[in-house]
Amino acid sequence: MKRYLSPSILSADFAHLGEDIQHAAAAGTQYLHYDVMDGMFVPSISFGMPVLESVRKVTDLVLDVHLMIEDPDRYIDDFVKCGADIITVHYEACKDVKKTLELIKSKEVKAGVTIKPKTPNSVLTDVLDMADMILLMTVEPGFGGQAYIPESTEKIKELRQMLNEKGLDTDIEVDGGIKKDNLQMVLDAGANVIVAGSAIFKGDIEQNVKDFLRIMGE
Ligand code: DX5
Ligand code: ZN
Repeated sequence: MKRYLSPSILSADFAHLGEDIQHAAAAGTQYLHYDVMDGMFVPSISFGMPVLESVRKVTDLVLDVHLMIEDPDRYIDDFVKCGADIITVHYEACKDVKKTLELIKSKEVKAGVTIKPKTPNSVLTDVLDMADMILLMTVEPGFGGQAYIPESTEKIKELRQMLNEKGLDTDIEVDGGIKKDNLQMVLDAGANVIVAGSAIFKGDIEQNVKDFLRIMGE
């Protein structure tokens, strides 16, 4: 299935965010990953609606918004208005995840659902056919630059099998600790949307994007 790279701007230099995004776009990335943290669901605080609005003005890339916030229903409308193309919410942060996914879909953007490393795939059984994308966190959410959790690989394989059994070809996104040297492993396990923050934005952004896309065969 088609593979997409989604560089996480959490690791970009915000003093020249527009330029960093242009470098990633020039090298051929298809998505841009936008990590929203509220200081409640995760310990850290990142950025929110106003920055997304500015990013939307400088790029046509697919804006892949990852909401690490409690009760995300409160802000779906705002993120849609600010230019999100895909909105992914945490299963653990929703009061009623089905309702949240329905709300996102009603705004005509793609709906994703995500789980933390210790949350089993089985909690997603009832929403597999509703989600456009399932994001498996491969680090504890909250910070960029952490090491990939090795147990994630089996979880990716299991989720791909669960989807196959239902005849679904839903995108599986992975997020956290993905580098050039473990990329092939997560692709082989069944992931097809790849988030990478520090491995893209630290160093030569264009070269890093090209290296990732080459390994992905895109
Ligand atoms: C972590 C975020 C990630 C983060 C990934 O909570 O969801 O998107 O930016 O960063 P790296 O690729 O550096 O692990
Ligand atoms: Zn993320």
